[in-house]
Amino acid sequence: MNILIIGTGYVGLVSGACFSEFGFKVTCVDHDKNKIKNLKKGIIPIYEPGLNDLVKKNINNRNLNFDLNANKYLNKSDCVFLAVGTPSRRGDGHADLKFVFKAVEQICSNVNKKIVLVTKSTVPVGTAKNIKNIIKKYKKDELITVASNPEFLREGSAINDFLRPDRVVIGANDEYSRLLLNSLYKPLNIRQVPIVNTDTETSELIKYASNSFLAAKITFINEISVFCKKTGTNIGDVTRAMGLDKRIGSKFLHPGPGYGGSCFPKDTLAMSKIFKDQRIKFNIVDSVIKTNDKIKKNISIEILKIIKANKINKVLFLGLSFKPETDDIRESSSIFIINYLLKKHKKLSISAHDPVAIPNAKKEKLNIKYYSDLNKSFDNQQMIIIGTEWNIYRSINFKKLHLQMSSHVIYDLRNIYIHDKEIVKLGFRYYSLSSK
Ligand code: UGA
Repeated sequence: MNILIIGTGYVGLVSGACFSEFGFKVTCVDHDKNKIKNLKKGIIPIYEPGLNDLVKKNINNRNLNFDLNANKYLNKSDCVFLAVGTPSRRGDGHADLKFVFKAVEQICSNVNKKIVLVTKSTVPVGTAKNIKNIIKKYKKDELITVASNPEFLREGSAINDFLRPDRVVIGANDEYSRLLLNSLYKPLNIRQVPIVNTDTETSELIKYASNSFLAAKITFINEISVFCKKTGTNIGDVTRAMGLDKRIGSKFLHPGPGYGGSCFPKDTLAMSKIFKDQRIKFNIVDSVIKTNDKIKKNISIEILKIIKANKINKVLFLGLSFKPETDDIRESSSIFIINYLLKKHKKLSISAHDPVAIPNAKKEKLNIKYYSDLNKSFDNQQMIIIGTEWNIYRSINFKKLHLQMSSHVIYDLRNIYIHDKEIVKLGFRYYSLSSK
C-alpha cells in the first residue's frame, strides 16, 4: 500500500511516521522548502516525544519519504490523506478550508489512477461532500472516492495516541474506500482497537463533538474549581470522587487556567458555527467558549491584583507552552496572562522559563526575559507563576528557592502544590486556582 500525505504539520507528520511504522510506504509532502529539506535529514520542526527517532528509523528503512512535489507520487498512491491546516476564518469562527480545496484541485488536475482521498484535518460536516463536488467538476469521480478519517491524537503523546488509540473512526460512503481504510488500520487489530465505520458526514461530526465535549468537561471542572476557591472546599477530593464514577471518568478533570492549544479553541468555535448554519443554537458550546475566555481573563485580573497588593516588580513564569511535552504556544494561557500583565502594568519586569517553548515564544516578540537554566531563573525573583505542569516544575526545592527569591509569592495555575503544607510554613504566600 502506498500512502501520500499532504501537509507535514502535527497531524500529517505523526500520521505519516506511524503509518510508515506499520510498514506502509509513505510520502509526506509540503510546500515549505526548508521544512522538507530538514525532514529529509530527519530534522523535525516540532517538539514531540519519540517522533524524531520514529522518523529517522523509517527514513532509513525506506518506508518514509518527504518531498515538495505531490504530483510525482500521486499516480503511485492508493490513498491520499489531506492533513493541511484548517485555521479559524478571521472574525468568523468557521474553519477556513482554502488549503483543503486547493489541494483537492491540484489532485484532480493531476490524478490518472484510482485513489481514495481522505480528510485527516478537522473539517466541518459536509466537507467530504463539497470535495466530491469539486471532483465531479473535474470529471474525476470514476477515479477518486472520498473518505473521512479524523485524528484524535494529543500533542505531547501523539505517537502513543496514534499507535494505541481508544478508537479509530472511518467515514466512507462507498465500499471501496471503506475496505481500503479498514485495511490501513489492520495493524491495530492485535490490540483489539474498536473501529467505528460510518458515513463521511457523521465521521466529521464525531471529531467536533469529541473535542467540544472534552472542552466542556474541562470548563465544567474549572468552574467547580472557582467555587472551591471561594468556599474552601477541596477540589482534589471532588475530582477524585467524580472521576471514580465510571460514567464520568477521571481524565480531563484537572482544573487549569482555561484550555488552550491549536484545537479546542478553534474547534469549539467551528462547532458553534456549524450548528448556527443549521439554525440551531448549541447553548453548551457557546457557554463553554465564553466561560473559557472569562476564566483566562479573571485569572489575569486576580494575578495583577496580587502583584499590586504585594508590591511585586519582578515575576517569573514557569512554562509557556499550552501544556507540557510540547513547544506549542498557540492559545497558551501563560502567553495570554503575560500579554495582559505587560499591557496593564508597564513597570513590571517579566521573565520566563520553559524546557522547549522559548524559541516559539520569542517569535511573539514579547518584552520579557528568557531563561533556559531553571535554577538561575529563580535568582532575585519576587513572584513565581507556574503556568504549565512540566515534570521539572513538580519537584522544586522550596527551601533553596526561598533563599534565592527576594520576595516569596507563588501562584500555581496547575494546582501542583495545593496539598503541600511546607510551602506556607517556609514563608511563601501560596495561591492556587482552587485555594486562597
Ligand atoms: C486535543 C484532543 O485532546 C485530541 O484528542 C485531539 O486529537 C486534538 O485536540 C486535535 O483536535 O488535534 P491537544 O490540543 O493536543 O489535543 O491537547 P489536550 O491534551 O487535549 O489539552 C488541551 C487543553 O486543555 C490544554 O490547554 C490543557 O492544559 C487543557 N486541559 C486538559 C486542562 O486544563 N485540564 C485537563 O484535565 C485536560
